[in-house]
Amino acid sequence: MQRAKRQTLESIIEVRTTRRQAMQGILAAGGAMTAFWCYPAEANSPALPTDAGFAGLPHVVSNVAGDEAATIGVADGFETQVLLAWGDPLFADVEPMNFHNPSAEDQKKQFGYNNDFVAFMPLPRGSDNSRHGLLCVNNEYTIPELMFAGITDSNKLERLSENQILLEKAAHGHSIAEITQDDDGHWRIIKESHFNRRITLDTEVRFSGPAAGHDRLKTTQDPTGKKGAGTLNNCSGGVTPWGTVLSGEENFHEYFVGALNAPGEAENHARYGVGNACDSAIYRLDQRFHLDQAPCEPNRFGWVAEIDPYHPDSTPVKRTALGRMKHEGAATSISHDGRVVVYMGDDETFEYFYKFVTAGTFDPKNPRAAKDLLDEGTLYVAKFKPDGLLDWLPLIFGQGPLTSSNGFSSQADVLIETRRAADLMGATPMDRPEDVEENPVTQNVFLALSNNTERTNEQLSPANPRSGNQHGHIIELTIPQVGNQADHTALSHPWEIFLLAGHLENDGGWYQGHQPETWISCPDNLTFDNTGRLWIATDGFENKSGILDGAYVCEVAGPRRALTKQFFHVPTGAELCGPCFTPDNSTLFVAVQHPGGDSTFDQPSTRWPNPPDSDLPPRPSVVAITRKGGGPIGG
Ligand code: FEO
Ligand code: CA
Ligand code: CA
Ligand code: CA
Repeated sequence: MQRAKRQTLESIIEVRTTRRQAMQGILAAGGAMTAFWCYPAEANSPALPTDAGFAGLPHVVSNVAGDEAATIGVADGFETQVLLAWGDPLFADVEPMNFHNPSAEDQKKQFGYNNDFVAFMPLPRGSDNSRHGLLCVNNEYTIPELMFAGITDSNKLERLSENQILLEKAAHGHSIAEITQDDDGHWRIIKESHFNRRITLDTEVRFSGPAAGHDRLKTTQDPTGKKGAGTLNNCSGGVTPWGTVLSGEENFHEYFVGALNAPGEAENHARYGVGNACDSAIYRLDQRFHLDQAPCEPNRFGWVAEIDPYHPDSTPVKRTALGRMKHEGAATSISHDGRVVVYMGDDETFEYFYKFVTAGTFDPKNPRAAKDLLDEGTLYVAKFKPDGLLDWLPLIFGQGPLTSSNGFSSQADVLIETRRAADLMGATPMDRPEDVEENPVTQNVFLALSNNTERTNEQLSPANPRSGNQHGHIIELTIPQVGNQADHTALSHPWEIFLLAGHLENDGGWYQGHQPETWISCPDNLTFDNTGRLWIATDGFENKSGILDGAYVCEVAGPRRALTKQFFHVPTGAELCGPCFTPDNSTLFVAVQHPGGDSTFDQPSTRWPNPPDSDLPPRPSVVAITRKGGGPIGG
């Protein structure tokens, strides 16, 4: 595709510096917000010039309440299809789940729970086929009170049966299904496909990279420290240029029971919230999650797992070189010199934003040679500076404070304790770094920050400019160019606030100073269409403002920059995850996660996608959105 004409780095810095100088002091300190340089001069301009490029964007969906809140909604001119829902068979030899008497054994062959990241991997591998491919979906976590009758949030740890707990284990992980689109636009699953696969909390995985085989990864079950069972709390992810899927292990701390009883690991585990934080009954059937028996087991989670969907017998690999944190996702970019860069958020309040730069290069003519590219390279953490530049600080054993005087004996230690290493380097604590995505047209990188109500006025920083940040924001990184290619390996480059979410008047929202057609809250997952428009999935709108979460779209340049429009909404209780386009943009896959959240199987707030008059529970589902009559979604 044609890339947008690029400005030189010097000209970008000059323009942004002028903007910042012009706007300094525009907002008085003392309110919820303090003055920062990030508000450009256009903030005072009331009128929007006409922009023909915006006309193709879909119509807005009204924010709905009442009966409409029990189901999904999409903009006029588009249609939706529930493609895969929890319990749907992925194989010909298994029945759909019987929700009143579900089988844990069957769940191993059925679509998992709480779909988050979605990747469409075309078939054949390496093609840009938009009508036939592999749908690869993370199944992040389970909600037993919505899955099973008679269970509540307060009784679940004791009351769940063995079969129910085994089913929960099998409902975690990742689901892969071969899908194809018929001539009438309808998508269907090919249950006979040899690609179809479930990866669960019991699937064999292996560790690679600097921490593999380290003593701190060894357990009674795995004295090698190189082999593990399963992947856990897989949130968002990414796709590599060589056709594999990266899956981020996020809130792993919630599965461990017992008090800290590991003198050598106490500080480490505390830094990740491990200990007295158990919210899952899986420990009752799996000794790995008892801290007193397996003090190193938490060190085996919190990694990025690489999955090769085109080889169903392949073993998922946890790439330790990418660091250990509560990984939201892992977005890859190819840099100017062929090195691959993986951008990653650590999704917790006051945590950090990272990137990993491979030592080797990717050769598109020989993708197989990239098999272990993610095992060698440098992990960096971001420091956002008030001068409008972002410095990437290397997390390398022996450099700076990352030495034996601070308890690090090797690069493995630095990676196992990535958060502490980043603390010592002076990284910038952020407002929950979630998804990251490179704009395919401008090559700039966007970072969603979900929210952080704990931030105080004393903790404000230019990149996190609001105290009690309920609604989050989005930051744009300007990636320098070498020739006409982006240098994602650069160790310093400009950044700026793209938008501050929330209502303009009530919440200090800021959309380049203009009124968006529909404002947003709690940006989480991001993707771009082929024209470079940003698509934002939200998580938390309903809790914060009584407005259903959904998909919002905006331009990233021109007078409509950052002016969001709603395109799709989820049912009550749900968040939206995994927006993912087919290569030609004719289908947008979205993952509706935890519909009916905060209610129960016995008294669900919605039964979507089941009929409202059924006796079935709501089910997390992947929805395919297409334009009526076909054609690209973005228009
Ligand atoms: Fe699983 Fe950060 O959301
Ligand atoms: Ca997320
Ligand atoms: Ca994304
Ligand atoms: Ca989320």
